[in-house]
Amino acid sequence: MPRLRLALLHLERNLGGHNIHRTEETPMGKERIVSPYYSDDAVTIYHGDCREILPTLTFDAIVTDPPYGISYDPGMHPNGLEFEPIVGDGSNDLGAWIANHEAPRVICGADNFAHRLPPGGIWSVWDKRVSLAADRMLGSPFELIWAVGHGSRKKHIYRIQHGGAVNADKANQRRVHPTQKPVTLMKRLIEDHFPTGVIADPFLGGGSTLRAAKDLGRHAVGIEIEERYCEAAVARLGQGVLAL
Ligand SMILES: C[S@@+](CC[C@H](N)C(=O)[O-])C[C@H]1O[C@@H](n2cnc3c(N)ncnc32)[C@H](O)[C@@H]1O
Repeated sequence: MPRLRLALLHLERNLGGHNIHRTEETPMGKERIVSPYYSDDAVTIYHGDCREILPTLTFDAIVTDPPYGISYDPGMHPNGLEFEPIVGDGSNDLGAWIANHEAPRVICGADNFAHRLPPGGIWSVWDKRVSLAADRMLGSPFELIWAVGHGSRKKHIYRIQHGGAVNADKANQRRVHPTQKPVTLMKRLIEDHFPTGVIADPFLGGGSTLRAAKDLGRHAVGIEIEERYCEAAVARLGQGVLAL
């Protein structure tokens, strides 16, 4: 997103309370109205707590990557990037909360709270190493993804190399989030599980799910509690459709 547009967004927020939860008087009493942080013709982002905002939104399916409850230590990343710990990662309550939502859903990293999943669902694997040589890279060699309510029992293996200095989306591309998922993976999750409908990602992070949806010509809505990641996601979404 051009600097001018970002600066205007800041100005709008500072002047008009752009991302602030407002309350309004209705016949039912006081109701919280949440204004989008960012919106274009494909995607909308809300800044705030998804436990409050998600129930007010309309969508068809959830594709998300919640805090796993592992007290993730971001440490130093390639290119000297340094990140803060992830909000909500001290327990697996958020993962368990979204895994028990009633909407059709794809939940990344659900093996971290498998004991709190409802019955049913199928597992898929994201193989992050792909080649034996890459097995020496730091971090986990694979991640598990749990899906339910999409009507198919098909399991998938996503072979997408990503980790350390290897970025599946673009070589040496700077990450905006410590646990940023490749857009390539999110596109395949959306296409394989929900080929139609509006996608929601209540734990948006740096916006990979929304970027994927937009590139697929789909509509999507995201929620993120940390403003710095809302801002990073907006910057990634400001460009038109990307052919990856
Ligand atoms: C595992 S990260 C998601 C990373 C994302 N998939 C990406 O590619 O960048 C989980 C995100 O959820 C956010 N988060 C934690 N608690 C939240 C809450 N209650 N509501 C909304 N977002 C929350 C964290 O700030 C973090 O950015």
